[in-house]
Amino acid sequence: MKRRGLRVLLVGGGGREHALAWKLAQSPRVAKLYAAPGNAGMAGLATCLAIGATDLDGLVRAAREIEADLTVVGPDDPLAQGLVDRLQADGLAAFGPTAAAARIESSKAFAKALMRRAGIPTGRHEVFDEPERAARHISAYFAENPSEPVVLKADGLALGKGVVITPSESEALAAAREMLSGRAFGEAGRRIVVEEYLQGPEVSALAFTDGRHVLPMVGSRDHKRAFDGDQGPNTGGMGTITPVPGYGPELAEEVHRRVLEPAVAALAESGATFVGVLYAGLILTRSGPKVLEFNARFGDPEAQVLARRLDSDLVDVLEACVGGGLSPDAATWGQAAAACVVMASGGYPGPYQKGVPITGVAEAESLEGVVVFHAGTARDDSGRLVTAGGRVLGVSATGADLGAALDQAYAAAERIDFAGAHYRRDIGRTRL
Ligand code: GLY
Repeated sequence: MKRRGLRVLLVGGGGREHALAWKLAQSPRVAKLYAAPGNAGMAGLATCLAIGATDLDGLVRAAREIEADLTVVGPDDPLAQGLVDRLQADGLAAFGPTAAAARIESSKAFAKALMRRAGIPTGRHEVFDEPERAARHISAYFAENPSEPVVLKADGLALGKGVVITPSESEALAAAREMLSGRAFGEAGRRIVVEEYLQGPEVSALAFTDGRHVLPMVGSRDHKRAFDGDQGPNTGGMGTITPVPGYGPELAEEVHRRVLEPAVAALAESGATFVGVLYAGLILTRSGPKVLEFNARFGDPEAQVLARRLDSDLVDVLEACVGGGLSPDAATWGQAAAACVVMASGGYPGPYQKGVPITGVAEAESLEGVVVFHAGTARDDSGRLVTAGGRVLGVSATGADLGAALDQAYAAAERIDFAGAHYRRDIGRTRL
């Protein structure tokens, strides 16, 4: 019998998933690509199914109905809720960690305990679920470090908002109280990690893993603050670059050896073998790289530059992770550099309007090396492209070096227009 090509279901509907869809659609092995729910940009690459990324019943049913050979899970929530476990229980192949392994992202306390056990460098921290003990610890922290901010993290997933950084003792005490009472972030905040503030430039160190072998990707850097000069509130990420100046092969090897390998080994030892993308968010401190957090998935917008540089067939790499036997040369990287500039709705990360018409995407993509990934976009009743989220588009470009990639991404962003659009002008050029 002639073997048909692969049917792949991609879960999610942001810029990360558009970038993964763009790469998956290039594979000669993929006969049919589905996305759930997908977005307006992915509609040209995949059949979009009206199923939310956290509708686990709907997703498992869809994977069965379309006879998916592989389901690729993009976002954190369905991983934490056990989508991969549910698919596996149905005999369906899935790329991503089980809920037990995804705890490295979905529980900050779990991640810290694992790091302590495995000797992975990270900030000094304590975990609390009792307000009086947390308050005593915070006061002692400020008595010892009067000029250092403290970091409070909700243990659970809080839509990316569960972190408070403050140089003020009274603010820290109030924030701890609000979190632990459940008022700030619901159940996610009823346990908190109180941590020292780590100083230094950030790097995102992502790796593919089959649960035993670890294959690091090229380094990338996100820019999380809303405005130029790293000012303003935190966002999901306003732009990315790869490679990262100052993050050379020696440092990358140190992170491989001291962070990524021990984390994957410790998860396997604990019985929660991690298959998927392990993402270490690092701070390059004066005393070496330290882990700020682990994520259990591709970063967004990191995926938007990594997909642009990956030469290998992504399906081959994902299958090698799921099947075991991931080899050290399974992923090859081309394109010297890539940059991504996120265009956001006016007001983001606060409240913003939806349904605002977008123009200029085709003009932007006519520039050499440019691909525009959609995040919060939709088609209105007359088929016009309109905004539908906070982060609207990721304007990505490749180039002979980082400067060329950035120039091209900015030239492309200038061709795109929607009322209220804002984007940072200093991606890849921030003084650190
Ligand atoms: N870029 C940050 C994240 O994906 O969590």
